[in-house]
Amino acid sequence: MRIFSGIQPTGAKHLGNYIGAIRRYVTSQREGEALYCIVDLHALTVAYDPVQLRRSVYDLAALLLAAGLDPERCVLFRQSDVAEHTELTWLLSSVTAFGDLQRMHQFKEKSAAQRELVSAGLFLYPVLMAADVLAYRATDVPVGDDQRQHVELMRDIAIRFNQRFGGGAPVLAVPEHRIPEVGARIMDLQDPSRKMSTTGGSQEGTIYVLEGREAIERKLKRAVTDSGTEIVRSPQKAGVSNLIEILAAARQISPEQVEERMASARGYGELKAAVSEAVVEMLAPVQQRYGALRGEEAELERVLGSGAAKARLIARETLAEVREVMGVGPRTVAGTHSHQARSLT
Ligand code: TYM
Repeated sequence: MRIFSGIQPTGAKHLGNYIGAIRRYVTSQREGEALYCIVDLHALTVAYDPVQLRRSVYDLAALLLAAGLDPERCVLFRQSDVAEHTELTWLLSSVTAFGDLQRMHQFKEKSAAQRELVSAGLFLYPVLMAADVLAYRATDVPVGDDQRQHVELMRDIAIRFNQRFGGGAPVLAVPEHRIPEVGARIMDLQDPSRKMSTTGGSQEGTIYVLEGREAIERKLKRAVTDSGTEIVRSPQKAGVSNLIEILAAARQISPEQVEERMASARGYGELKAAVSEAVVEMLAPVQQRYGALRGEEAELERVLGSGAAKARLIARETLAEVREVMGVGPRTVAGTHSHQARSLT
């Protein structure tokens, strides 16, 4: 099993990112060979500030390490350090259907939200994402529910590539998404019909990983519920369902267990207090470790650099094979770079 996931260095990471993705990267690094990528190139697809982008990469690297990623157990790297991602994006674009990219929910949402430029990069975003994963022939992609369509597209791209160029032997692995049963879609506390998000959500409805106890308690106290008292999940009770799911994820129990334990509670206040406590406890160790790690930029750069060197070795091998079967560049022998047929003299 080879695990790959990517995360954008944009804005402060929130509870959805933590429960839906980051915490699962930490457990996955013990289950197989794992690569985690800070996708700075994806962040260029919407308006951004270059100075802030560089800072945000360090913020996120420190956060991931504070959450428990161990550079001895996984490969943590910055996307732009491995140029194979961008080369593979172009090569894969030849087996990606224009119509499929037009149908991507995220493209539709983000392009509608752009006030100035809808960049071609935003349109090609899912192809870069496919390249991220396929460059490593990863089999498992831990993500939240919002990335489901992107993972489905990368599967289609891999399948089409193998059909077109594989000649019977698949060159690219067809990856599977690993979307958790609980916590795959944490909703905004102020508007539980929308997912918690850095860009689309509300400040008061979003809990950040580095937020203090007071703010967490306040936001949860004000979380939108309904006028009833029953603590059960149901489509009519989106706010309460979201709180149950957060509590289940934070305590690592099932939502059914939360409902059982809360059956005798006197109203939503008790549920909200229990969620606050669980979230504060879950995030405290990450917050304690973050400060010291963030202060050491040279060390963060060293970790990312050594991760990139390891990643590059794998990606380079895949790219050599992809180029070979696509007829790009000089002929190589069985995917190795022995340029015997090509002599400069
Ligand atoms: P990004 O940076 O938006 O989000 C990182 C991860 O957090 C998950 N997530 C959530 N999970 C539960 N509830 C939420 N409210 C919530 N919001 C975000 C996301 O599903 C994601 O797993 N395109 C990707 C980054 C990417 C990538 C990849 C992922 C680039 N290349 C290759 C996997 C494989 C993104 O923007 O994630």
